[in-house]
Amino acid sequence: MAAPSDFKPIIVGFLCNWCCYGGADLCGVSRFQYPPYLRVIRLMCSGRVDLEFIFRAFAKKADGVFIGGCHLGDCHYNPEGNYDALGNSFVAKRILENVGVDPDRLRLEWVSAGEGIRFAEVMNEFGAKIKNLGPLGSSEGREVADLQAGLEAATQLVPYFKLVERERFRVPKRTEEGYREFFAREDYEPLFKELVLDKLTMGRIMGALRAGEDSAGAIAQKLGVDPAEVARHLNLLSQQGMVRIDGSQVQLALAA
Ligand code: FES
Repeated sequence: MAAPSDFKPIIVGFLCNWCCYGGADLCGVSRFQYPPYLRVIRLMCSGRVDLEFIFRAFAKKADGVFIGGCHLGDCHYNPEGNYDALGNSFVAKRILENVGVDPDRLRLEWVSAGEGIRFAEVMNEFGAKIKNLGPLGSSEGREVADLQAGLEAATQLVPYFKLVERERFRVPKRTEEGYREFFAREDYEPLFKELVLDKLTMGRIMGALRAGEDSAGAIAQKLGVDPAEVARHLNLLSQQGMVRIDGSQVQLALAA
């Protein structure tokens, strides 16, 4: 669906104080033009951008989220926070995709304090991208309320995701190439599905049941998840005593 021509996106920008914020400032002082879509939140380091910040921004109907940090090797903190931001952006994009949000709505860039023109170029490009995608939910073909429910489930699991990241997804080589290689490894995908996405799907199913859905088909439709996948998770939840399945009816066990 094409975005309305008068659509003015809301982009939440988390900018590192030392580099990207300086770049944005220089961009303004130099009067380089970029679209007025950005709502800036200034942080001391891009590594401070928690997964929760990203999910909450989208849950509050941001159409795009931008994270701007110092170039790799230039972070002002030790260990370098921008590598954490890089790892988080890989994880966040997969989770966003799982809950139905187009992962292209999230962008991470490195911009130094001397790169005002680059800041303008990045914002022009990202602004045009988000304008083209349209309001949150439109390019996804999903109701915003359903996306918000998924984002809420993801937000509640952030402490668990962080634990998994720390214990199981520690990238051995702190280089951009090292991160790209790690997240493209063949053994990463099944592990990520098992440890992160399956847990998230279960959380989303529980949320749908709490919201009043009472059949596997209705839950699958609401979540945009394959019905066979929903049935598999419902069986697991039933074995764990979390839900009761009676024919085609599904109920929260604790609600009885
Ligand atoms: Fe800028 Fe860490 S201080 S990314």
